[in-house]
Amino acid sequence: MSPVNPDDSDESNKSEAVKSRTATDPNANLSQIQNNVKELPDQLLLMYRAVESTRNGVVITDPNRPDNPIIYCNPAFAEMSGFRIDQIIGRNCRFLQRDDREQPEILEIRKAIAAEKPITTILRNYRKNGQVFWNELTVSPVHDASGKLINFIGIQNDVSARKEAERRVSEFYSVISHELRTPLTSINGALRVIEDGSAGRVNAGVMKMVKIALGNSERLMRLISDILDLKKIESGKFKLSLQKLPPMTVIDTVIETLKPLADEKKINLIKDVKTHQSALFDPDRVVQILNNLTTNAIKYSPDGTDIILRVENPSSDSTRFAVIDNGYGIAREEIEKLFGRFQQLDSSDKRAKGGTGLGLFISKSLVELHGGHIGVESSPGHGSTFWFEIF
Ligand SMILES: Cc1cc2nc3c(=O)[nH]c(=O)nc-3n(C[C@H](O)[C@H](O)[C@H](O)COP(=O)(O)O)c2cc1C
Repeated sequence: MSPVNPDDSDESNKSEAVKSRTATDPNANLSQIQNNVKELPDQLLLMYRAVESTRNGVVITDPNRPDNPIIYCNPAFAEMSGFRIDQIIGRNCRFLQRDDREQPEILEIRKAIAAEKPITTILRNYRKNGQVFWNELTVSPVHDASGKLINFIGIQNDVSARKEAERRVSEFYSVISHELRTPLTSINGALRVIEDGSAGRVNAGVMKMVKIALGNSERLMRLISDILDLKKIESGKFKLSLQKLPPMTVIDTVIETLKPLADEKKINLIKDVKTHQSALFDPDRVVQILNNLTTNAIKYSPDGTDIILRVENPSSDSTRFAVIDNGYGIAREEIEKLFGRFQQLDSSDKRAKGGTGLGLFISKSLVELHGGHIGVESSPGHGSTFWFEIF
């Protein structure tokens, strides 16, 4: 028997011309097999064994016969469907469907088949015992050498476990938004009323505890809104409302909002506006990004230092915002991790506190939604410049 393992074949003897043809020509494998009729049974056996062994369902249909019946299915497909192979051959694959045929995916498959185009989709199917499962299906046309459609091949993957996990995550998000946010907002409101004196005078010890509770409830609210933002970003549901505005307006808003926090550490927030040219951006989101970068800068800077909020035009069609601090700076290894999800600077570091670990990831996503870039220049002991550019 001649070798069927590609490692054992005479790969090394192939001319460069054959190698490059093999890499680009979809029929190259086939013509190579046809050129070497002696090896044909072994090559076919290899493919047959591979298709029979894969854990994905594989079916081949014949579109030149009425209703495109299945002419081959592998054991994994039989197992997925719950039917025996002899009960499957000759039927159209829609036997896996039930009454919920209004699924838009079925229409998409029908259109792709009519156009002889490949398609990948996920749809609800049913096993023989009626159990529903989510089928990630890829259907591809198979053409002969003259380009005539001869078959379709379908690859099925049962993704029910993944779908269930996604459902649970989405349920978790809705619990977070309703069951947690609503009571937390009222706790926060009550603490504020005590803190600002509207609920009557309290002694210094109680006030100290109220302030701690207030700080923590605000931190939890930030975490919840970060998680909800993250979910929206990941599901592609985050919509920007773009407006043409002078960038200075957002810098003013950020400085006004964060002045009390900066004052606690006697940090000076300095506005450095080098352009008045209007730019197209979502002001709420740019404020959110700048708020995040500036809050970090305040957190990681020593008392009494300056933080500059700069805006400039590096070129006529781009606007660059930068938050420049004279803080502790960030080591190179840390910089690479910074914009990842749930990342914080070394948590054993006394400076790392109060964040959700999501802020920079969300900022990066928001900048990218604007079609821009975000980055940082920093080294330990020399402060950091966090910048983003939108076009
Ligand atoms: C190769 C191939 C594999 C298919 N596999 C499945 C499948 O696993 N599950 C399914 O519901 N439909 C599958 N279909 C789609 C159905 O056979 C059918 O094309 C679809 O229901 C749309 O056509 P209809 O509206 O005539 O039913 C497959 C189609 C082809 C050509």
